[in-house]
Amino acid sequence: MRRALIVGNWKMNKTASEAVAFIRDLQERVPTPLHADVVIAPPFTALESARKALGTSSWLSLGAQDLHWEAQGAFTGEVSAPMLRDLGCRYVIVGHSERRTLFDERDEQVRKKIKAALTHGLSPILCVGESLAERESCRTESVITAQLTGSLAGLTTQDLAAVTIAYEPVWAIGTGQAATTDQVVPVHRSIRLFLETGWTSQTASAVRILYGGSVTPQNGKLFLGSEAIDGALVGGACLNPDSFATIISLAETERA
Ligand code: 13P
Repeated sequence: MRRALIVGNWKMNKTASEAVAFIRDLQERVPTPLHADVVIAPPFTALESARKALGTSSWLSLGAQDLHWEAQGAFTGEVSAPMLRDLGCRYVIVGHSERRTLFDERDEQVRKKIKAALTHGLSPILCVGESLAERESCRTESVITAQLTGSLAGLTTQDLAAVTIAYEPVWAIGTGQAATTDQVVPVHRSIRLFLETGWTSQTASAVRILYGGSVTPQNGKLFLGSEAIDGALVGGACLNPDSFATIISLAETERA
């Protein structure tokens, strides 16, 4: 089994001081995980305070929720990979469905963001997933293949090794209706097959493929106990230290 990765995507939640309180609370609840890597992705405005609260020896890593593909320049409101690195980020989420649907982000932009992240030493977490209409018209696999093709084009084997994929069906995000493992596992298999075909099977087999969409302490065991699912990208349930701690502890027991 690949080592689990649990990522908390805070979305547009928590001020800098709330972030510090959350981190202190979480660190008190969770002993250093042995079988899972854990990332929190606060808003840009809380990254600096979060980094200070984490200190140097924390088992928790810092991620960002987005980035711009240029390193600097006249891009009002944007944040670049070197800026995120400087704040201690190791990971960055790219292509989240909220960015695709609410901000009209396209695969070509996602591809440039992944390249920029890799160039500056950040590990991208690429989100892919189909809408309900696409699932109902049996287009899940073709939609995801198109997203992967457009977003990962031109990556070397070494680049791919630093990438994580998160399968997040749009219909499962924030709805309380998580996908079933019967729905998730075939998609994960087809993602891995896509990676094997485009790169080497050795590299493809090391890439972590997460599930995201209404993951909770109640259903987390199903996903984290599945060999085809390498971890979770958690939204709502990561905002509460108690429920996020429970999801981390599920990863610990299921992957031990
Ligand atoms: P929820 O866990 O709130 O469904 O959000 C999932 C998500 O979008 C994580 O990136």
